[in-house]
Amino acid sequence: MQQRIRVTINGKPHEADVEPRLLLIHYLRDVAGLKGPHIGCETSICGACTVELDGKAVKACSMFAVQADGREVLTVEGLAANGTLHPVQEAFWNEHALQCGYCTPGMIMAAKQLLARNPNPTDSEVRRGLEGNLCRCTGYQHIVNAVRAAASGMGD
Ligand code: FES
Ligand code: FES
Repeated sequence: MQQRIRVTINGKPHEADVEPRLLLIHYLRDVAGLKGPHIGCETSICGACTVELDGKAVKACSMFAVQADGREVLTVEGLAANGTLHPVQEAFWNEHALQCGYCTPGMIMAAKQLLARNPNPTDSEVRRGLEGNLCRCTGYQHIVNAVRAAASGMGD
């Protein structure tokens, strides 16, 4: 059995017939062709699949695509505008906040959400805010530095 869903992804409408058991992360990657959101654990632990759903960060492996029907999804691909990186992306670049980059799309989406809630976080608030996102390269201090740098840049 398939179900037709309509989802706005990065501002563009997407429509597809999907099985009700299809996870949102598989829909984004395999149906919509967006490989930015990554798959790590598929059990809502690692955060590699983090995207925004109607403006709130969610782990795309923890919900079904049909639950996104009629809603808006933002992935890391939708952050840059007119060739200009989002301030969080820019800060990750400048602060060397990635090694292999596997966790990075999820980290950036979670960091964006964290800064929307708390525009001027301390180191420990950043660490607490990102505790749902794991980096196996363990470059956490650079990630914290990047989020704080993004915070000061966005406050200019
Ligand atoms: S793949 Fe979704 S939290 Fe790990
Ligand atoms: S940069 Fe490699 S997992 Fe985070």
